Amino acid sequence: MTTASERAGAWHPGAWRDHPADQQPSWPDADARKRVEAQLSALPPLVFAGEARNLRAQLAEVAQGRAFLLQAGDCAESFDEFSADQIRDKLKVILQMAAVLTYAAGVPVVKVGRIAGQFAKPRSAPTETVGETELEVFRGHMVNDDAFDPEARRPDPERLITAYHQSASTLNLLRAFTTGGFADLTQVHAWNQQFVASSLEGRRYERIAGEIDRALRFMAACGIDLGAEAGLHQVDFWTSHEALILHYEEALTRRDSLTGNWVDGSAHMLWVGERTRRLDGAHLRFLSGILNPVGAKIGPEATVDDVLGICEALDPDRVPGRLTLITRLGAGRVESLLPPLIDAVAEAGHPVVWACDPMHGNTFNSSSGRKTRRFEDIWDELRGFFKVHREKGTWPGGVHVELTGDDVTECLGGAEEIFEGDLDQRYTTTCDPRLNARQALDLAYRITELLRDLPED
Ligand code: PEP
Ligand code: CO
Repeated sequence: MTTASERAGAWHPGAWRDHPADQQPSWPDADARKRVEAQLSALPPLVFAGEARNLRAQLAEVAQGRAFLLQAGDCAESFDEFSADQIRDKLKVILQMAAVLTYAAGVPVVKVGRIAGQFAKPRSAPTETVGETELEVFRGHMVNDDAFDPEARRPDPERLITAYHQSASTLNLLRAFTTGGFADLTQVHAWNQQFVASSLEGRRYERIAGEIDRALRFMAACGIDLGAEAGLHQVDFWTSHEALILHYEEALTRRDSLTGNWVDGSAHMLWVGERTRRLDGAHLRFLSGILNPVGAKIGPEATVDDVLGICEALDPDRVPGRLTLITRLGAGRVESLLPPLIDAVAEAGHPVVWACDPMHGNTFNSSSGRKTRRFEDIWDELRGFFKVHREKGTWPGGVHVELTGDDVTECLGGAEEIFEGDLDQRYTTTCDPRLNARQALDLAYRITELLRDLPED
């Protein structure tokens, strides 16, 4: 695929520099940043063009109503919490959710992690004040540290290199897990973590895992050679993050030797956030020229013209799977705001994937000052998203959620109620509140019911 702007010959990885770039850190030492850019440019890409094309083909299936997208992971990955167990546990939850959706709703699930690169955060204010002290805001571990300390908050370009290496080792472990046997369907029971297994959701999951086992034994008894079926033994698991720090993304963008296209080698899929999606901005300009499938977050302030402008910039050729619109409109507003957007995009002929992020439009501060979300609001926004698509006859293509495999208390509610007073118990996120593994699984069951309610075509 060549993009329109690339055909015009105008695009190159640094073309964004001629446009306003929101949410960039003020690097205190420009020379140090340039040295880091040169270093990154000489390092190998983390993903290659063929993979990005394969993901685009899978997302094309989603765009055409034949598969479902599950995009999930941390709000912000951390340089401090990066053990093999944590990566494995996050993968476990996502595999569990996917198994539930595939088995109970009968749709193939495209699995994309917010992982191996999700280290930078857009913020609502450039500084944070505690008492009398005002410091640069925390922008994700790719930029500075979350400790409230002047030295920790100083943007340090060396962190871009650390983010690259942590992404590489995370991706390496994910590739080992997903192709080396751990994601094998005969392992479905092993994905149920101990603290989940004893809960209502965990027991319900065990039943599904038992049924999958029986189905596999049945097929084997019928003489089907299960060992030869690659689809049972390994999964495609893709990486994604918000393409926020453009010096980093530019340095990892390389020409595909086969086709001459530009590929952002930092992840399989990249998205532009709600705060950086302005039409004349650097972020859209950057994403417009790369071959990778891309996403755009769409918040409640987005107008029909904004959304059409994003579609035209990112998907001028109307390629299924190229663009995922990730709406995060809020539980109370999704039913009124989404229909005109769906109509306009359909009218303009863009075969987008519609995905629902039910997290970012439903965040508030608890009475103790913790950023949190109610499980019921998350569920409400998803239900509204499905309802609108059912009424329009369009495909509710996917869900985009923030979760962790750890047993945290960051979002309120769920089958095993977490109350405001519980938030302090295990609140470890470096940015937004995440679903814990039980809440994530609970959500997967409920999505299954929504998928089953859709009319057959
Ligand atoms: C995010 O996905 O963590 C995020 C900041 O989302 P949004 O751009 O939708 O606010
Ligand atoms: Co977030």
